[in-house]
Order: sequence, then C-alpha cells, then structure tokens
Amino acid sequence: MRFPSDALAVLTDPRTEIRDDRVRIPFELDRPVYEQVDRVLKEMGGRWDSRTAVRAHVFPYRVEEHMRQCLTAGEFPTRTEQGWFPTPPSLTMQICDLAGVYAGTTVLEPSAGSGALTAELARRGALVDAVEIDPVRADVLRRQGDCRAVIRDDFLSLDPLDYPEGFDRIVMNPPFARGLDHIKHAIGFMKDDGILVSVMSQGLMWWSDRASVEFRAMVEEVGGEIEALPEDSFAVCGTNVRTCLVFIPGYAGGPLRTYDWLQRQPLQLGLFGIAA
Ligand SMILES: C[S@@+](CC[C@H](N)C(=O)[O-])C[C@H]1O[C@@H](n2cnc3c(N)ncnc32)[C@H](O)[C@@H]1O
Repeated sequence: MRFPSDALAVLTDPRTEIRDDRVRIPFELDRPVYEQVDRVLKEMGGRWDSRTAVRAHVFPYRVEEHMRQCLTAGEFPTRTEQGWFPTPPSLTMQICDLAGVYAGTTVLEPSAGSGALTAELARRGALVDAVEIDPVRADVLRRQGDCRAVIRDDFLSLDPLDYPEGFDRIVMNPPFARGLDHIKHAIGFMKDDGILVSVMSQGLMWWSDRASVEFRAMVEEVGGEIEALPEDSFAVCGTNVRTCLVFIPGYAGGPLRTYDWLQRQPLQLGLFGIAA
C-alpha cells in the first residue's frame, strides 16, 4: 500500500526517530495527521506504548532497515496485500553468502522489488541486472543506482536468448503465487556452472502436484537443497508466511535447462536438419 502523503512526510521528517524496534515522533502533529500516521504504523505491526519513558510505536522486531526500505519505495506491505515483501537484511546476507557472490560476479535479480537484494549484491561488487514489473519499484531501483541494468517488465515474458550471455548467479525472492514458474524460467538465464538461490513458499517442500514433485526431484538430482527458513523470517514485514530457501547448483553437462543449454539447442536442431 502507498503511504498517504502526510504520513510519508512525517515519517521521513529528519526529527522522526526510527531506531531499533520503535518509531518516535517528538513533535506536535495535527489530530488528522496523527491519526493517519498511527493507522499506518499499526497496519505495519506497531503498537502505541504510552508509557512516559517510551511514548513511541513499538514493533515486535527491529524496524529500522525495513522502514528505510518502505519509505524509499513509498509503500509498505500490509496483511491484506500480498506480493511485495522486501527481503529482511539478515536473510539477504544469508542468500548472498549461499550463492557465493564476489566482486565481478554477474547476477540476475528477476523480481527485484525496491532493491533489498540488489543493494547487498552491489555492496559485494557484483554486476547486477534487475527486472521488476511494478513501474514505481523499477524507478526506485533506477534511482538507487545499484544495478548495471533495470528492466521494467514481466520477467516471465523475457527471452533468455535476448541476452548476450548467461549469468553467474540468480538471486531471487519472487512473488509466491507463481514462484515455481519464476524459478524455472530463471534457470534459463543461468550459465551451466551457475548457482540459483531463491526464497519460496515452504509449501514447495510438500506440495504433491506434478510440477512441485518434478521440481524437487530435479533439485535432488543436481545436488541442490530446499531448506525451511525459521517461521519468523518475514515477521519484520508483518507476516508469518512460511518460507524456504531453494539452492540449485549448475554444472557442465547437467540436466538443467540453463542459458548454455538453450544456446546449444539451435545448433543441435541445425545438425538434425543437415542429417535429414
Ligand atoms: C516478494 S517481493 C520481493 C522483492 C525483492 N526481490 C526483495 O527480495 O526484496 C516480489 C516482487 O516481485 C515483483 N513481481 C511480481 N510479478 C513479477 C513479474 N512477473 N516480473 C517481475 N517482477 C514481478 C513484485 O512487484 C514484487 O516487487
């Protein structure tokens, strides 16, 4: 949800203190503006603590970094609005460590939101290309300047072969509604020996539909892993959505339909053509 403009002005006011688990506004507000700010902070999971020593909205988690992400993006995730859940800082570190991201590594972030992952990737010196369907978030990404390229588009409509080469790493936290489609499509952008790390709904660990069963078998075949994340991993976004981390390592000659695999197809088809 977009921040109402008065609430955004108050929360980005340099006098507003956003520290650790609390937001404190040490100046007078008109009643309607106060009520707007109070509504937003409660919607984000805060609770007004009126004790003299506190007098702040207190959150059940460290709100500082999450609030920075939200204020930069001009929006915040609500309990009713699914889809945009910025990856919390400790998880971005875990994902980048697991993927093995170093200076010069090329990385694709195919559903980049407002850049929680791209910021950490860039901090490690990676060359990051980001895709984001939402125009406002894509603008935020461009303004942040962490990425080599920002593409405002539906990732599922992009053709890997429009890219001059595959990526060393794919790092992602896609919309869960079509998470598996996003991960499978992203493999097509990865080099043969690349690595993909994705956050995903924990349901992927037990869903019994054919696509999920085949996907788990494929992850096992390549020596990958699907590991449950702690239940409070996204508590900072005001949701207890259960998540897991998918790790898929590629290797030359492996079964994954990577960028290199796709590149080899026209050649093979051409050979068939000659043989016929
Ligand atoms: C769960 S959020 C994660 C954002 C970011 N990856 C992060 O880790 O903070 C998912 C993002 O995917 C974007 N998105 C949804 N469908 C998409 C699509 N088809 N192509 C590209 N981005 C998409 C949403 O707008 C949202 O910003």
